[in-house]
Amino acid sequence: MHTGTPIYSGKAKTLYTTDDPDKLIMGFRDDTSAFDGRKLAQLSRKGKINNRFNAFIMAKLAEAGIPTHFEHLLSDTESLVKKLHMIPIECVVRNLTAGSVCRRLGVKEGIALDPPTFEFFLKNDELHDPMVNDYLIRSFNWASDADIARMKELTFRVNAVLKDLFFAAGILLVDYKLEFGRYHNEVVLGDEFTPDGCRLWDAATREKLDKDRFRQDLGGVVEAYEEVARRLGIGIQ
Ligand code: ADP
Ligand code: TMP
Ligand code: ASP
Repeated sequence: MHTGTPIYSGKAKTLYTTDDPDKLIMGFRDDTSAFDGRKLAQLSRKGKINNRFNAFIMAKLAEAGIPTHFEHLLSDTESLVKKLHMIPIECVVRNLTAGSVCRRLGVKEGIALDPPTFEFFLKNDELHDPMVNDYLIRSFNWASDADIARMKELTFRVNAVLKDLFFAAGILLVDYKLEFGRYHNEVVLGDEFTPDGCRLWDAATREKLDKDRFRQDLGGVVEAYEEVARRLGIGIQ
């Protein structure tokens, strides 16, 4: 296995080819972006923390029977993953209100949602990831009915596993975004699960421990990610 050519460099990660056409190297960079790339910064150590964080969460999800692209860690900032044909849709589950749902519906932050709610967004930075629904996904053929059903099922199964995992560490899983892709016709969880793509609050104080610290200029972004990792027992040298 060797690091091949970069085939894609996004806002926070770079993908490289390998000598196996079915596998890619996913490199986590220190680059941090919010508001669809309008706010950018370099946060020292973030790539390393997110690589470890993601490996830990993906392993927990795999143990629970959720198919993921994650293979294994390769280095401090790189992991080997299955090469997926990505579905250009973001799947969001919310357990508590925060972020765009508050802006869109004029509701306060921190309202418990029972049952948790689910939203689809189109992955398109130029359009600011507009919300879409099952019908639009079908009409534009971004995914099939079976893919849609599977993405919803897997996204809720992730909630069942991770809500408890975080709660045991004194953390509320407020919301999160997942991306899926196809691997030899199977729908598989791709991309990452890190504090960059979810909201995590201290269960007692509701202190924000995720990328909202960056979005809202609260400071201590990487320190908050490290605190979550420490509470989950993720070792980061
Ligand atoms: P963005 O593209 O939103 O700026 P990143 O910087 O995180 O985001 O780049 C990672 C990109 O890799 C994303 O576009 C994501 O959809 C894609 N991706 C994630 N996992 C895989 C995979 N296993 N195979 C192919 N592409 C993937
Ligand atoms: P939102 O409140 O902005 O809609 O985001 C909901 C959750 O999904 C939040 O944890 C952030 C995450 N998310 C991303 O990581 N990237 C995205 O492009 C979007 C739309 C949401
Ligand atoms: N992940 C998106 C971005 O990088 C949206 C966000 O996190 O605010 O811009």
